[in-house]
Amino acid sequence: MEYISLYRKYRPKKFEDVIGQDHITRALQNQIVLNKIGHAYLFTGSRGIGKTTVARIFAKAVNCENNKNGSPCGECATCKQLENESNINIIEIDAASNNKVDDIRELREKVKFLPVNAKYKVYIIDEVHMLTDSAFNALLKTLEEPPSYVIFILATTEAHKLPATILSRCIRFDFKLVSINALVKLLQSILDNENISYDNDALKIIASSGEGSVRDTLSIADCVIAYTNGKITKEIVEKVLGTTDNQLLINFFDLILNKDVGGILQFINKIDNEGKNLSVFVKDLAKYARNLLICTSCKSPNEILNLTQEEFEKIKEQSNKFTENQLINYMQIFAGCENELRYTLSPRLLLETLTLNALNENYDVKKN
Ligand SMILES: Nc1ncnc2c1ncn2[C@@H]1O[C@H](COP(=O)(O)OP(=O)(O)OP(=O)(O)O)[C@@H](O)[C@H]1O
Ligand SMILES: [Mg+2]
Ligand SMILES: [Zn+2]
Repeated sequence: MEYISLYRKYRPKKFEDVIGQDHITRALQNQIVLNKIGHAYLFTGSRGIGKTTVARIFAKAVNCENNKNGSPCGECATCKQLENESNINIIEIDAASNNKVDDIRELREKVKFLPVNAKYKVYIIDEVHMLTDSAFNALLKTLEEPPSYVIFILATTEAHKLPATILSRCIRFDFKLVSINALVKLLQSILDNENISYDNDALKIIASSGEGSVRDTLSIADCVIAYTNGKITKEIVEKVLGTTDNQLLINFFDLILNKDVGGILQFINKIDNEGKNLSVFVKDLAKYARNLLICTSCKSPNEILNLTQEEFEKIKEQSNKFTENQLINYMQIFAGCENELRYTLSPRLLLETLTLNALNENYDVKKN
């Protein structure tokens, strides 16, 4: 059977299952119970803490025929219909790739159509800060006078990039980073449900490296589960999260130096099979490229690096084989992909592509 990552399998279906955002879920449930629903909401906050999840629950709850204390019942015909990802009454738009004024004009045309077998049509516009100025203006017109059956939920990690005219038309909810305790509790209930045993100490380490993001915490748990067949212990978690041994990094950069495509693919395969978290590995690659660069370009490199003499000699020797430009290039490639890597469904493929791109001297790193 295909393994479904924990964060997809355990996406909350009702407000009560959302953790750490009580101030928001309670307010939304109240609005539904009292039938005081707004027509434009803004959900802001860091990544992976529930913006899209809450937006989807809300979209169901406003339509549910028999909501339970403001949460969707999950059983009525409407809830069942909205469960379907391709439902036409809940429209999710990624503003990062539909950011032009024409995209918003098209949206405005579609807004005119009534919902089908439901009370409300809900538009969830993700990454809304990516819209162009003219797209914002077009959106503004719709936000000013939306038809009574339309609700907009704008979601963004960067609310400060939104024009004041948009902000002033939305009911704003700020999502918070989730506490380590709440994350540990969530991990406990998920692992109990999966029949996986654990030490509580181990869960604390997983939760704290998730840095307040539920999605990141659950992806780290995924890596740990993939690594072990038995109990989750502190040692195992430390191993998965642990920094990469310098010798491994030296070997990896030797492969890059020799443009050894087969060797690189094998290496990444091995690291991945060992259950190592690839985001952590990439961070280490970026740091290591920086260390090499310091060796080639600074006068007294080890004053900055602070390595043992033996380690320093090895890195220094390797650094002489690269040009400054190459190293700057690697640093940009590996430092730039950390975020992307967290969210891609196939981190291994992304890492392979990036590394092979790094072999190409003329590879043009995006200039920011
Ligand atoms: N507050 C939460 N309570 C329970 N699970 C959560 C919460 N936040 C996130 N999750 C888990 O993380 C996954 C991703 O969350 P979601 O898509 O809601 O994040 P987001 O805030 O929209 O992030 P992004 O800014 O990256 O779009 C969900 O499928 C769910 O499993
Ligand atoms: Mg989202
Ligand atoms: Zn229902």
